[in-house]
Amino acid sequence: MARAVWDPAQYLRFSGERLRPALDLLAQVPLAQPSRVVDLGCGTGNVTAILRRRFPDAEIAGVDSSADMLKRARTDVPDCRFERADVAGWTPKTPPDLIYSNAALHWVPDHTTLFPRLLSVLAPGGCLAVQMPAMHDAPFRALQYEVASIGKWAKCLGGIGSAPAILDAAAYWDLLRPLTASLDLWDTTYTHALTGDDPVVQWAMGTSLRPFLDPLSPEKRTAFLAAYAEAIRPHYPKHADGTTLLPFRRRFIVALAGT
Ligand SMILES: C[S@@+](CC[C@H](N)C(=O)[O-])C[C@H]1O[C@@H](n2cnc3c(N)ncnc32)[C@H](O)[C@@H]1O
Repeated sequence: MARAVWDPAQYLRFSGERLRPALDLLAQVPLAQPSRVVDLGCGTGNVTAILRRRFPDAEIAGVDSSADMLKRARTDVPDCRFERADVAGWTPKTPPDLIYSNAALHWVPDHTTLFPRLLSVLAPGGCLAVQMPAMHDAPFRALQYEVASIGKWAKCLGGIGSAPAILDAAAYWDLLRPLTASLDLWDTTYTHALTGDDPVVQWAMGTSLRPFLDPLSPEKRTAFLAAYAEAIRPHYPKHADGTTLLPFRRRFIVALAGT
């Protein structure tokens, strides 16, 4: 899997749609007054700002591997601390009461090691709250690989992949239940109503398509995007009112440390 180069402006084009699952996750966090909160894979900090409002007395830190996303976060959310680190190797200096992560951990490999490790670094009674897209088989994801493998860009994109498939719900249950005092696991499919031309392409350009676009020259990138748009259009037709519907399934995990 290639590491994506994140573009804060493109990612925030659909900030409303992307925010709702973040709020749905936060609504299920059962802690009233955590002292230390970490926003793992915080991106531009738009959700970190919401954590700040929900927990006004907590020490809040955002962690992300993208310098561009963190630059935006530091400007927009000056009353939180931000740290550049790869989640795969990240360990907090002081155990947090809440590790919150919205739409980020699907980019980090080896969940069978990662999730138990994140639980183990929590303070006693701490909470791990995670939301991740569960969209690997969706047409707009599967066709990224298919279109990448044909055409004049195929050579540049050999071996490139986006975020890998996450585990199925039962596998997270079996992995985490023995390590947790309580475990809440659920999926929600949102039906995003998008507007404009080829909005699903624009959506993907903010996240899953990034690893395929980053290695291409401007000319190849334009051609690749045109071919990708044509391939996914039949799966996401424009409705009579001009709306394009994007069904989007997300997996939520709220785990309390302890047994
Ligand atoms: C889709 S954005 C989500 C940002 C934010 N959590 C939100 O809800 O708006 C995914 C973020 O995960 C970060 N990320 C991906 N892999 C990472 C890794 N291995 N370590 C740290 N951050 C990572 C990216 O840099 C990006 O900012």
